[in-house]
Amino acid sequence: MLSLSGKRIVIAISGSIAVYKMAFVVRLLIKKGADVRVIMTPASTRFVSPLTFSTLSKYPVFTEVISEEGWNNHVEMGLWADAMVIAPATAKTLGHLAHGICDTLLAAVYLSAKCPVFIAPAMDLDMWAHPATQRNIQKLIGYGNYIVPVGEGELASGLHGAGRLAEPETILSFLEDFFAVRQLMKGKKVLITAGPTYEPIDPVRFIGNRSSGKMGIALAHACAKRGAEVHLVLGPSSLTIDHPLVQVYRVETAGQMHKEALALYSDCDLGIMAAAVADYRPREVADKKMKKSSDQMEITLVKNPDIAADLGRRKMPHQRLIGFALETDQEQQHARGKLEKKNFDAIVLNSLRDKGAGFQYDTNKITILLAQDNKPRVFELKSKAEVAEDILDITNDWWPNESE
Ligand code: PMT
Repeated sequence: MLSLSGKRIVIAISGSIAVYKMAFVVRLLIKKGADVRVIMTPASTRFVSPLTFSTLSKYPVFTEVISEEGWNNHVEMGLWADAMVIAPATAKTLGHLAHGICDTLLAAVYLSAKCPVFIAPAMDLDMWAHPATQRNIQKLIGYGNYIVPVGEGELASGLHGAGRLAEPETILSFLEDFFAVRQLMKGKKVLITAGPTYEPIDPVRFIGNRSSGKMGIALAHACAKRGAEVHLVLGPSSLTIDHPLVQVYRVETAGQMHKEALALYSDCDLGIMAAAVADYRPREVADKKMKKSSDQMEITLVKNPDIAADLGRRKMPHQRLIGFALETDQEQQHARGKLEKKNFDAIVLNSLRDKGAGFQYDTNKITILLAQDNKPRVFELKSKAEVAEDILDITNDWWPNESE
């Protein structure tokens, strides 16, 4: 595991009885060699004095955007950090962050931060369970933040349940794991296909499908987070991704996606085929809008290239290829067939029979089948960001210890 030595960490504290635990977090981080700056909301200073944190971190603690010392440059702090930890994050803080309400230095630094943000909530059990809190959590996950799960046990109210701030060691190991994982795909180049394809019928109409691009974009994010250089060939999707390690190639048709993917794959270590590619396209594309005439209309379709199968044929011994299978019946049997036919190293199966899985959802439920064995890996319904991590975890065995 990599150490936290030299890592620049902003600790952002909001007002909860659990503030005292953050003194241990700061102390552990300093012991690990991290460079720590602490900011506090005014409410949190009523639980533990800023003096405690400035003594431990050896730097002044800021609480306001404008203070007696002058203007505290939240943009600079947001850009300085390798990671920001918001803990304890109260229900109010979660709500503000989820909705971009910038009424504290903490929120201003959060909105300015370019680094990964870890949020460790703390509140009473009913506040934690409330749909408004849970919706805010989902929003914050959707923005790419990491949630450190709440602990269960005795709460400040005397009640028992979920809502306790995670223990200092847990928060620390989240950070350590994160920085270790960030190196796992360093030096690797990854091609990802994502989104639908549109096959034009005339200048107005097309044959398409319901893919949003979310799954492929989540994979691009996850690969970049692990340090890989990502080439994302993205069909017509309203979504995009802005990350220095991700280059996006916008395409519309299967033919265009095929051309881009073929050109890119020879230089890549891994291909992930998350796109929902139209298998057929109209043989003729009318150059003017087709007019309504007879009661029936026939369009002759011709086969599109199978991008994944073509890459599977070209795959070199050092390369790996992960396919997807979207099924409605006899799922594992069909997925295994595709894995073999297209020369995949692994296939990610999602079934339209599973609620919350497949097209457009923010969640997915997958089973991964590997070429090397017959043991299906079945996963729970999770956010697509978490699903992407599960998928990439299978590559850890393909390139072991190269980053160490
Ligand atoms: O984009 P979202 O809304 O987030 O939805 C995600 C998803 C449901 C699109 C995704 O999880 C998924 O399942 N993608 C693959 C869908 C699909 O087309 O599966 P398939 O079983 O038809 O194709 C098998 C594999 O061959 C896939 O890897 C596909 O990308 C690839 N293929 C298929 C046909 C073709 N002409 N070229 C291909 O590369």
